[in-house]
Amino acid sequence: MLNNDQIESFKRNGYLIIEDYIDSTKRQQLMSRAEELIAEFDHQSHRSVFTTKEQQRTSDDNFIGSADKVRFFFEQEAFDKEGKLTVPKRLSINKIGHAQHLLDPVYKVVVDGLQLSGIAKQLGVVSPRAIQSMHIFKQPRIGGEVDLHQDSTFIYTEPMSCIGFWLALEDATIDNGCLQALPGGHKIALKRRFYKSKQGDMRFEELDDSEWPDDELAVLEVDAGTMIILHGQLPHYSAANVSEKSRQAFTMHVVDGDCYYPKDNWLQTDLV
Ligand code: FE2
Repeated sequence: MLNNDQIESFKRNGYLIIEDYIDSTKRQQLMSRAEELIAEFDHQSHRSVFTTKEQQRTSDDNFIGSADKVRFFFEQEAFDKEGKLTVPKRLSINKIGHAQHLLDPVYKVVVDGLQLSGIAKQLGVVSPRAIQSMHIFKQPRIGGEVDLHQDSTFIYTEPMSCIGFWLALEDATIDNGCLQALPGGHKIALKRRFYKSKQGDMRFEELDDSEWPDDELAVLEVDAGTMIILHGQLPHYSAANVSEKSRQAFTMHVVDGDCYYPKDNWLQTDLV
């Protein structure tokens, strides 16, 4: 559980770093399970790339339908012009999402042991719902950049209630694309919302067209085992990984079940 200083720090900065939150056994369980799942995955039949560069175009049916599934999304750089993998399959995946915390026995046990609901409650979430999880790989040399964004853009409730739990499964450094965040930036307005239009395609609704503040981002280099808690409106970013080391992380996003969850949010699930 968090102490008062930690809660105050989260409220002030919009993020909180807790070292040694997930032990090496649990980290290894998640990484080994991911490797097994990728080995079983038929990559010839599903070729969904994840990139934040063209969120609209690449949010294909495979992505939108993944809210209550365990699916695999490739790094954009994993394919050459002919569509062939440039790296072994196990090093080609950008992320696995978005319901392994509910559907996969290994993830489920580890996640249940993390006791994130209690922390979410301390941070003001009355009825925590763990609405999505992601295993993010940030693969060596081809790990894609993630643009500056606010998680509430994608995980929206009224009023806003999203909190992200980001767990470092491996050391995260400036070289392999650690998180960077705007301290106190959670107090700015939500800039846009990702939603399903009446035509059925995914769009961004622009809510606030002011520029991002030009304050410097804090570089959140952390050791494996650290958890970073992110307020849903906190602007954050991670650079491409051009190093030789992966930067695996496991993330969970929680919303408040007492808040209104729009029917046109991209992520729709009956699982929680
Ligand atoms: Fe994010």
